[in-house]
Amino acid sequence: MQLSERIARISVSSTATVVAKADTLKASGVDVVDFGAGEPDFPTPENIKRAAIRALEENFTKYTPTGGIRDLKQAIVERHAKDFGSDYAAEECLVTVGGKQAIFEAVAAMINHGDEVILPVPYWVSFLDIINYAGGTPVLLETKEDENFAAHAEAVERLITPRTKLVIINSPANPTGAVTPPEEMEKLLALAVRRGIALMSDECYCRFLYDGRRPYSLGCSKNRENLIIVGSLSKTYAMTGWRVGFALGPAKLLANMLKLQSHSTSNPTSIAQKAGVEALRGPQDSVATMLAEYERRRDHIVAELRSIPGLRCPVPEGAFYVYPNVSAYLKKDGIADTTVLATRLLDESQVAVVPGPAFGTHEHVRISYATSQEQIEKGVHRMKRFFASL
Ligand SMILES: Cc1ncc(COP(=O)(O)O)c(C=O)c1O
Repeated sequence: MQLSERIARISVSSTATVVAKADTLKASGVDVVDFGAGEPDFPTPENIKRAAIRALEENFTKYTPTGGIRDLKQAIVERHAKDFGSDYAAEECLVTVGGKQAIFEAVAAMINHGDEVILPVPYWVSFLDIINYAGGTPVLLETKEDENFAAHAEAVERLITPRTKLVIINSPANPTGAVTPPEEMEKLLALAVRRGIALMSDECYCRFLYDGRRPYSLGCSKNRENLIIVGSLSKTYAMTGWRVGFALGPAKLLANMLKLQSHSTSNPTSIAQKAGVEALRGPQDSVATMLAEYERRRDHIVAELRSIPGLRCPVPEGAFYVYPNVSAYLKKDGIADTTVLATRLLDESQVAVVPGPAFGTHEHVRISYATSQEQIEKGVHRMKRFFASL
């Protein structure tokens, strides 16, 4: 069977590869500390689960409109308005099968062969492969670890060419937890408007901001014809398996994304949509509880990682990842690169982390602290022993 040239341009998400290897080890009885998975360890809140059960009992189990039920679109724009002060209409909302589908469809709807997409490094791995799959050319914007990986509008502008179609920004970011300040976000949007290109803002971690930072969205800007926002219920409400995400943007773009959705997944799962309505309209205290817990874990893990000689660990400002620089240990004891390091850490100390090449850098590993305090303590203890042995 001949495979397409298009499919050969991408590979299985390398974060998924690590998760799969850790899962295999766990299934064979190995006590693995899994810092690989990018998902909350909390269960989905009870009120949300009950809404899905109610939907089942009421036989809400048929096709819905492809782009989501009206009630959910309304709940999404209302929640966004409450959290950020935006004023999107339900017509400017598309419900998708997770935030990933929104990104995929938006890139597919905007990018022609050879169009350039500016992407800050470190990037979330799927951005790169989605651009490649669409035939676009990723143009990577290098950032600096000692500036907490900030993407500056001036640096973005230097990369713009007549072929530039889109800039992607993700704040708080996966894999670094870095937060782009509101002033910089506004400069990026102003730049996109001035140069006639689109800006995609991935807000999947927007409710997880630390040190008292206020939730912020570019969606509250007046000038948003060039802006597409991607959001998700996955992380905010510990709903990764439910697959509910959304896009907020110009109706014309959404209508074209909808075409793709209508020929691929059709609607997001009916009962998950009802659960989504409850997540967005119901009590929000579970989000605050998770945030407080993530912040405690962040403080603990950063302090512990910084106590490992040679490890540099920028302080994440949001999301639930740390991205320590492990270059002091490369070339030691036959460790050629971070992939070898991550493999040995898993094989010898049973700790799963994701090596930096998945995110475009070569001196880091990503550690997800969306796992229990007990697991964090065990994992850090093992890492300390592992690094001391090199
Ligand atoms: C930056 C970023 N965007 C989008 C997503 C997609 O999440 P989902 O498809 O579960 O909504 C993820 C998931 O890991 C992510 O890290």
